[in-house]
Amino acid sequence: MSSVALEVKDLSVAYGKVEALHGANLKVGAGQIVSVIGPNGAGKTTMLSAIIGQLGSKGSVVFQGKSLNGTKVERRVAGGLSLVPEKRELFSTMTVEDNLLMGAYARHNRGERDHRQTMEEVFQRFPRLKERRQQLAGTLSGGERAMLVLGRALMGKPQVLLLDEPSLGLAPLIVKDIFHIISDLRESGVAVLLVEQNARAALQISDYGYVLETGAVVLEGPSRNLADDPRVAETYLGGAKRPH
Ligand SMILES: Nc1ncnc2c1ncn2[C@@H]1O[C@H](COP(=O)(O)OP(=O)(O)OP(=O)(O)O)[C@@H](O)[C@H]1O
Ligand SMILES: [Mg+2]
Repeated sequence: MSSVALEVKDLSVAYGKVEALHGANLKVGAGQIVSVIGPNGAGKTTMLSAIIGQLGSKGSVVFQGKSLNGTKVERRVAGGLSLVPEKRELFSTMTVEDNLLMGAYARHNRGERDHRQTMEEVFQRFPRLKERRQQLAGTLSGGERAMLVLGRALMGKPQVLLLDEPSLGLAPLIVKDIFHIISDLRESGVAVLLVEQNARAALQISDYGYVLETGAVVLEGPSRNLADDPRVAETYLGGAKRPH
C-alpha cells in the first residue's frame, strides 16, 4: 500500500453501557477499495458513523495522516471524507440536478466554482441521472435514488468515500451497475470503504477486505484470499467453494 488514506486504530463505540464495536483496526490505501462484510448487527454502520464523527468513540481515526479526534462532522467532510448512509435521503421536492448541486454546496462556499464541470463528470458516470436531470428526486426509482446519493457525494470531490450498503434492496442488474461505478472510482483516485451484505460482489471489486462479527474484526486479507477462505465461503458466499 503506497500511502494510507484512512486508518482506524483500536476503535471502540458504546451505546450507553453496551459496546457495539470493540477495538477495530482497519486501513484504506489511497485509491483503494476496501470492503467490510459481516452479518446484521455486527457493527458496520456503527463503525462508519464513528469514522465520520456522528458517534463518539474511543481509539482513533487518522485521515490523510492526521488524527480526526475531536473534529466535527462538517470539518471531516470539508477535508475530503464523505459518508453515503444506507438510508437514501434526498431533497425529494428538488430536481436531480439541484440535488447534485447541493453536494457541491460546501465547496462552492469555499470559492470552488467548478460544479458544472463536476456535474458533467457525474453525468458521465451515471447516464441515467443525466436523462432524468429535471425529474424530481422524490419520483425516482430505488436504483436511481441509489445513484443520485452516490453522485451527490461525488459532487463534493471526496478523497475517501464511506459507503453503507449501496446495493441494499436493489435488483441484480442495478446492483451490477452500482458495483461497476464504484469499481471505476479507483481510476479517479477516490478511495472507498465499502460496507456490504452482498459479500460476493464486494469482494469481487475490492482490493482488501475485513470480516466484522459482533463488533470485532475476525478475519482480514486481500479480497481474493478472503473469497477463497472456507469460513467466508460457508457463511457469506452461500456454501463452500468447489475445488478447481
Ligand atoms: N442508537 C443505538 N442505540 C443502541 N444500540 C444501537 C444503536 N444503533 C445500533 N445499535 C446496536 O449496535 C449493534 C450494531 O449495529 P449496527 O447498525 O452498527 O450493525 P450493522 O452491522 O450495520 O447491521 P446491518 O447489517 O443490519 O445494517 C446492534 O446490536 C444494534 O442493535
Ligand atoms: Mg448497517
